[in-house]
Amino acid sequence: MFRVPTRVLIGPGCRFQIPEILSSMGAKRCLLLTDGGVRSTPWFSGVQSLCGPHDLDDSIAQNPKHRNVDRLGAQARTGRYDAVIGIGGGSVLDAAKAVAMLATNEGSIASFEGKNQFSNASLPFLAIPTTCGTGSEVTWVSVISVPEQSRKISVKGDGMFPAFAIVDAELIRTLPSSLIASTGMDAFTHAIEAVVGKPANPVSDALALEAMSLLLHHLALACDPEGPAESKEQVMLASTMAGMAFGNADVGAVHCLSESIGGLLDLPHGLLNTLLLTPVLRYQQSHIAEPLLRIAQSLEIPFDSFFDHLQAFVESLPLPSWSSLNVSPSSFDLLASNSESNGSNASNRMDMRAEDYLTILRGL
Ligand SMILES: [Fe+2]
Repeated sequence: MFRVPTRVLIGPGCRFQIPEILSSMGAKRCLLLTDGGVRSTPWFSGVQSLCGPHDLDDSIAQNPKHRNVDRLGAQARTGRYDAVIGIGGGSVLDAAKAVAMLATNEGSIASFEGKNQFSNASLPFLAIPTTCGTGSEVTWVSVISVPEQSRKISVKGDGMFPAFAIVDAELIRTLPSSLIASTGMDAFTHAIEAVVGKPANPVSDALALEAMSLLLHHLALACDPEGPAESKEQVMLASTMAGMAFGNADVGAVHCLSESIGGLLDLPHGLLNTLLLTPVLRYQQSHIAEPLLRIAQSLEIPFDSFFDHLQAFVESLPLPSWSSLNVSPSSFDLLASNSESNGSNASNRMDMRAEDYLTILRGL
């Protein structure tokens, strides 16, 4: 099965259709969620002014925390809102998606961990990405951190798809190059894991392969402040396409490990995926040779040197190294065990156990 029930608007300037979209959703009063960084951008007040009557909360943190989501969920249940709007990167969109679900379902976000554990469809949710990687604007999943348990939980369900997504590349004009690089590589990781995973299907493959091609050609240019505006548009497009792909297939071991590390150490998701991508795929290569061959052919990369090309692509981007993250070996056992417990671990073609993740971590 393939589905994207979210209505998606893509293109520079499409944010100006927000009033019509809210009107079509019957939204007269909204809860608008963002973070401090987005709120301080020069364009934010202009977008905010398109959102009609609303309450604004900018408290969403990187790797959004369950207590804040629960607090906002309680506010959403009593606030008589018609819709939730999320303006931000993956953390904001995941948190806002969770809040929209809690608006119609009494309980803590942790109590709904897993798939379809809630009864009522979410309040209509309008997702406006301001980075180029999350894909959250077109998926049913929300990933939330539970610091007390040093892990992240996934909450997903049929009723959690955003009602609308507005993908406007003009909103990443002010994004620092390092964030374009790391979030763009999150999108690349979504695409590649969608293809090499067990749940892949021909439609998700088509979206993922095209997304990878766009990112390969445009991501470095999009990171260049002097680069063409078109490259940022293509990267935004690729991010949403990759989101549609993994939302209908799944992610795999790279995300299992990056979510474990992000849950424990509060490090940026896209950066972790970037640094883990080559080592994890290389570890699994004998199990994913067939889809890797298709990817190499599609991207016109020699199969024999696929990983060299992949690593060269990663290293062409303005990002820090693994060693600079100072991930302590004393945490490896916990990280490996949490990776095996991740809900996406079963989507790997290779049977990945904690020992496998431990071997990868020790080799980084
Ligand atoms: Fe991701």
